Amino acid sequence: MLKNYICSFVKRSRKLSLNQKKIFFLEKKNILPYSNKNINLNNIFTKKKKNILEIGFGKGEASIKIAKFMPEKNFICVDTYEKGIINLLKLIKKNFLSNIKIINYDAIYVLYNMFKFFSFFGIHIFFPDPWPKKKHKKRRFINKFSIKLIILNLKKKGYLHIVTDCEDYANYMLKILNKNIYFKNFSKEKSFIKEEFKPKYRFITSYEKKALNFKRKIFDLIFIKK
Ligand SMILES: C[S@@+](CC[C@H](N)C(=O)[O-])C[C@H]1O[C@@H](n2cnc3c(N)ncnc32)[C@H](O)[C@@H]1O
Repeated sequence: MLKNYICSFVKRSRKLSLNQKKIFFLEKKNILPYSNKNINLNNIFTKKKKNILEIGFGKGEASIKIAKFMPEKNFICVDTYEKGIINLLKLIKKNFLSNIKIINYDAIYVLYNMFKFFSFFGIHIFFPDPWPKKKHKKRRFINKFSIKLIILNLKKKGYLHIVTDCEDYANYMLKILNKNIYFKNFSKEKSFIKEEFKPKYRFITSYEKKALNFKRKIFDLIFIKK
C-alpha cells in the first residue's frame, strides 16, 4: 500500500448479473491483469506500436473511437468502474479491435508498479472526477505525486493530455504543470488553452456530453515531456 494515499474513485460494490459475468469471462483476453511487477508491453499486443495509456475511461465510448481513429497505436485503458469495463469489452468485440487492453485497477498503482519507466508515448486523462467540494479536493487524481508517476511512465517527447470542465481543477493542474521542469506547455500560452484547441483524436466522452448540456467550458491541457 502507498503511504497516505487517498483514493480518487468511488468504490461501487454492485453485484454483476450473470450476463455481465459472462462477458467478463468470454472477453477476458482483452483484460490485462494488474501486476505489481513490471510487465513487457511488447508481449501484450500482437503488433508492436507506440503505446498510449488512458486513465479513467468511464463507459469507454470515446476510447473505442480513438483506438479506431489511431490503428497505428496500442491503447492500455485503466478504470475500476465495472459496468464501464463491460461496456468497453463489448465495444472492442463489436469493432473487432486488437489494439486495446483494459486494466481493472487503481491507476495510481498501475503507474507506480506495472510498467517500465518511459513506456508510453501518450497519456490521456479525460474528465478526471472533479471532486468540486473543498473537503473532497484531496481526492482529485491529479496532484504532485501522480504527476511524478506520469513523468516516469512517459517517454521523452511523449505527451500528457488532460481534459476537464472544472475551472478550478484546470487552474490547479495548469499551475503545477507549468512549473514542472520536465514539461512544456504545448499551447505555448500560460493561460487556458482555448476551446477550439481540441485535437482531432479527442472524441466527445459521455461525461463531456453532460457538461456541454450544462454549457460548461471544456479545458484541454496538453503538455509535452522535454
Ligand atoms: C468523471 S469519470 C469520466 C469518464 C470518461 N473519461 C468520460 O469522460 O466519460 C472519471 C472516471 O475515472 C475513473 N477513475 C477515477 N479515479 C481512478 C483511479 N485512481 N484509477 C482508475 N480509474 C479511476 C472513475 O471510475 C470514472 O470512470
